[in-house]
Amino acid sequence: MRRLHRSSGRLEQGLILLEGTHLLQEALGLGLRPQMVLVTPDWLTRHGALVERLPDPGRLRSASPEVLAAATTTRHPDGVLLTLAAADLPSPAAGVSPPAFVLALDRLQDPGNLGTLLRTALAAGVERVWLAEGADPLQPKVLRASSGAALALPIERMTATDLLTRLAAAKERGVQLVAAMVPEATGEVRPYWELDWCRPTALLLGNEGAGLAPELVRLADRWVTIPHSPAVESLNVAAAAALLLLERPRQAHGRPVP
Ligand SMILES: C[S@@+](CC[C@H](N)C(=O)[O-])C[C@H]1O[C@@H](n2cnc3c(N)ncnc32)[C@H](O)[C@@H]1O
Repeated sequence: MRRLHRSSGRLEQGLILLEGTHLLQEALGLGLRPQMVLVTPDWLTRHGALVERLPDPGRLRSASPEVLAAATTTRHPDGVLLTLAAADLPSPAAGVSPPAFVLALDRLQDPGNLGTLLRTALAAGVERVWLAEGADPLQPKVLRASSGAALALPIERMTATDLLTRLAAAKERGVQLVAAMVPEATGEVRPYWELDWCRPTALLLGNEGAGLAPELVRLADRWVTIPHSPAVESLNVAAAAALLLLERPRQAHGRPVP
């Protein structure tokens, strides 16, 4: 379990580590089957109903609070840890039709930002998440910050070059590529509410420090911003994403989204 704190350990074992009662509930709600569930005796006495929902009760192991604390990445574990096979997570169906709503993230570094963004993406109806490098979406911190959304979304991590290729192919198939730009950006940037978000759309968000790579900005065919006071240069990427991603369901309210 400690090896699963690192991306190399997750790759080696083909497993991911989930920490806490909420993520166990989310995993079970999604029909995922834990490989192992490690609990303290105290947790067990308080969560009998949840234990009954485990598809394979034989995979439950009891451990002292000290052992559990040694296996976790959190300071105050709530008494349960579990592992899941990474292969059981949703993978993008090799579909013929292009996805109608894609979130493309350019080298996002901060696991808290990534997790928050994934949670909003799920709430907004995003169908695919394409990540160019950056933070590993299956690390415990992202899983916690996403509140389990990282388990429900089809997420693909690729090189920056592959993201460009993937987006170019989507554009060929009629998906509008929308680059999220800071207000001071030059060019044909317009307020995000002027865009028709109900068309098949890929929203591109940039790295916390450097913003979107110039190649991605050039490839885009729409450029939007959230206007705000010049007192700040930009918004936190996850805060910007909340407004942009939720604009699509807001506009679609009462009309069909393709
Ligand atoms: C913290 S900002 C990066 C700031 C960077 N110095 C730049 O010039 O792009 C990270 C990303 O969040 C998005 N973002 C931040 N503020 C935004 C705003 N006001 N409107 C639209 N997107 C914004 C953009 O995609 C940006 O690349």
